[in-house]
Amino acid sequence: MTNATIPPEKGDYQVGREWREGAPFDWKDIHSNFTWHKTGKVNMAYECVDRHVAEGKGNKTALHYLSDEEENTYTYAELQREVNRWARVLQRHGVKKGDFVFVFLPKHPSCHIAMLAAIKLGAVVGPLFEAFMEEAVKDRINDCEGEYLITDHSFLDRVIREDIPSLKNIFVTDKQGGDYISITKEAEKENPELETVWVDLEDGLNIHYTSGSTGKPKGIIHAHRNMIQQYQTGRWVLDLHESDIYWCTAHPGWVTGTVYGVFAPLLNGVTTVIHGGRFSAEAWYGVLERAGVTVWYSAPTAFRMLKSQPERLHKDYDLSKLRHVLSVGEPLNPEVIHWAYETWSLRIHDTWWMTETGAQLVANLPTRTIKPGSMGRPIPGIKAAVLDDDGKELPSKKTGHLAIQASWPSMMKEVWKNPEKYQTYFPFGGDWYLAGDLAYMDEDGYIFFQGRSDDMINSSGERIGPFEIESKLMEHPAVKESGVIGKPDDVRGEIVKAYIVLNEGYERVEELAQEIRSFVKSGLAAHAAPREIAFIEELPKTQISGKVLRRELKKWESEGVL
Ligand code: WT7
Repeated sequence: MTNATIPPEKGDYQVGREWREGAPFDWKDIHSNFTWHKTGKVNMAYECVDRHVAEGKGNKTALHYLSDEEENTYTYAELQREVNRWARVLQRHGVKKGDFVFVFLPKHPSCHIAMLAAIKLGAVVGPLFEAFMEEAVKDRINDCEGEYLITDHSFLDRVIREDIPSLKNIFVTDKQGGDYISITKEAEKENPELETVWVDLEDGLNIHYTSGSTGKPKGIIHAHRNMIQQYQTGRWVLDLHESDIYWCTAHPGWVTGTVYGVFAPLLNGVTTVIHGGRFSAEAWYGVLERAGVTVWYSAPTAFRMLKSQPERLHKDYDLSKLRHVLSVGEPLNPEVIHWAYETWSLRIHDTWWMTETGAQLVANLPTRTIKPGSMGRPIPGIKAAVLDDDGKELPSKKTGHLAIQASWPSMMKEVWKNPEKYQTYFPFGGDWYLAGDLAYMDEDGYIFFQGRSDDMINSSGERIGPFEIESKLMEHPAVKESGVIGKPDDVRGEIVKAYIVLNEGYERVEELAQEIRSFVKSGLAAHAAPREIAFIEELPKTQISGKVLRRELKKWESEGVL
């Protein structure tokens, strides 16, 4: 059953119309789809919004926001005016090309508008995840010496201004600015027209912080050229047609929420659904029905949670508009694909990429057969391989390092202030970019994810570095040292588990575990807090360097030792 493949359904797919399997494809072939190809003037925000208005599509709905309290829409023309007004306020208060503008807002149209306004001025936007706590916020802005932040009063208690000395101006989206600049209030008085600040394809567009197995999260900077691949994958992988109502469930603080929640749908001129609020099966099915979602991009954890609901639940909702479903971020279980196929009569199309890669690289195209358990095959224009420890290509079915031949249009521009780190993605010197994932490829070129080659934890599709959590744990007075690993979990993929050696005088009691958990939660973020804590006598360490042997901890975990 789980090995059964799922053939594509007949459909008028963009990729099927424009590209035949095996045919050559060069990213340059699609440059003529962009305004800059004709005018030489580049800006992501222009391509996302203004070009559609210039092409007479101003009355089309760009954003459709739904929450329990509120529902509203913006046409492309309204979005353009709003972005321009906000950009004017930012400009008046000093924002210019190349500046960092951090955006710390909930899933809401204001988040889209803030990001686009900053980009329209040529600034580099840094969207922050809505659940980040003070330390995560501070570390990121400080790393960039960021001068501008757009946020909301309800988030301000997590922005400790004294700890972020570089901040010049804080804008709030509330009408009452108080000590801060109310961007919404000031925008009301602004002229809704604005000359775009033109940039170069290579200029900085956005920054996302991503965890590694050592050190603090690194800032991955992407460039405006990303739009080439983001537009095209929106067209060929998401299969966006102009009539689509599209919903990406990720917050823009994660790269998926920025690339496939903001850029790709707007570049393709579709209607983007934004849902304000948390996951619940009823709420999400409700969004699909109320907004008439046709294309839906989400994550395995969400699909698994929907699968665990009472069997008939989905029947209470009209899902008849939904036609294309995609997944990203963590392994998608074959059972989930089969369940969705039986329950919704829809295939879930897995996709694979990373913060660093800027757009999808491996995917199940709608025109291809799905082999459940596989992330799909490289998309047109991308070459992948599986390499051994010496960088040699392995034959099919052999597990090794998943590698992509550089470069592609949305490849990261740089690791902020860390050029050495960039080089570590190319350990064999040549043009093979290594993802840090282990995988094998079958004889048809389908890629099967086998795990990470490092200690990274993937919980509900969020990439978590053990080092950051261990460092936080060390700040707690009871903790002498700790080792953090991912423990397999049916719903979340993995959960964070911490092995802790206590300082003298502390007792190994559940209350202390609770306290340590909330300490990480309030300092870093909820998803980083260890769901499980085991107090131990001593940590396994390497003999020479004394590094925590997370591999050994994983072994203990799988053998049920602790
Ligand atoms: C890591 C990248 C940009 C996507 C969101 C996560 C894992 C990603 C899949 C998939 C199995 C996946 C990999 C990758 N991952 N997609 N379809 N199946 N694993 O971005 O936070 O940069 O993490 O997520 O391990 O290297 P990210």
